[in-house]
Amino acid sequence: MAQIKTDIEIEKIRKSSLLVGKTIAEVASHMRPGIPTIELDKIAETFIRDHGALPAFKGYHGYPGTLCISVNEVVVHGIPGARELKDGDLVSIDCGTIIDGYFGDSAYSFGIGEIKEEVRLLMVRTKESLYKAIAIAMAGKRIGDIGFEVQAYVESFGYSVVRDLVGHGLGTSLHEKPEVPNYGKRGSGSKLEEGMVICIEPMINLGGRSVMQERDGWTIRTSDHKPSAHFEHAIAIRKEGADILSSFEEIEQVINKNIQIIR
Ligand code: MF3
Ligand code: CO
Repeated sequence: MAQIKTDIEIEKIRKSSLLVGKTIAEVASHMRPGIPTIELDKIAETFIRDHGALPAFKGYHGYPGTLCISVNEVVVHGIPGARELKDGDLVSIDCGTIIDGYFGDSAYSFGIGEIKEEVRLLMVRTKESLYKAIAIAMAGKRIGDIGFEVQAYVESFGYSVVRDLVGHGLGTSLHEKPEVPNYGKRGSGSKLEEGMVICIEPMINLGGRSVMQERDGWTIRTSDHKPSAHFEHAIAIRKEGADILSSFEEIEQVINKNIQIIR
C-alpha cells in the first residue's frame, strides 16, 4: 500500500523537490558544447551541499554521481564522466536531494545548440505527456489512468514508451510504492488517494521501446540507438487535482536567457 503523507511531510518533500529544480537550473546555466558531464555533476553536488542538503542519488545502490546525465541514445541513469556535450545533443538531467530526511526528485531534458527538429519535438511532446498525466492525477483516479494519458499522447506521434523503468512514490525513501508506469489502461491499477506523493517520469523514445543496460550496471540506452527524452515531476495527490511539488520555473528562465546554447 502506498503511504499517505501529512501536509507537513508534503511541505518537506516540496522543499526538497524545489531545491532539485534550482539545482538543475544551476547546471543548465553551465551547459555548453565542450563541457564534460562530470563538471556538471560537481556543480550540482556543490550547489546542493551549499544549500544544506544531500545529493540523494550519490551512493544509492552504489550509484557514483549526484546527477544522472543521459545524452541522446541514453534513456536514463547515465553516469557523469569525461563525455563532453556537443552541439545537437539531447541531454537529460535527473537529480535528487534529501532535506531533513525527505527526498526531492525531478528531471528535465535539454537540447544543446542546434538540434534536429525531430529531437526538439520529441522533448516538447515528452514534457507535454507529463502535464497530460498530471492534469488527470487526482484522488479517485487510478495508476493506469496516468500511464494511459502518457502512452496515448506520445504514441499518437509514433514515439514509444519505455516500459522497463517506471515512476514511483516519494517520501523518506527515493522509491516508494506505488510503481507508476508510463503505459496502461484507463481505470486499471491501484487508486490514487489524497495525500499520496508520486513521481511521474515519462521516458519516451523516438524509435522503438526496447532498451539495454550497459556493462557499467547503470546506463540504460535505446537498443536502436535513437534518442530518448525524460521529464519528471513530483506531485501530491489531492481531491481537486495534483499539487506539483517540483518546479521547472528556474530551469526555463535559464533556457530562455540562453536560448542559443540550450533549449
Ligand atoms: N529519478 C530517478 C528515479 O526516480 C533517479 C534514480 S537514479 C539513481 O529512478 F542513481 F539514484 F539510482
Ligand atoms: Co524518479
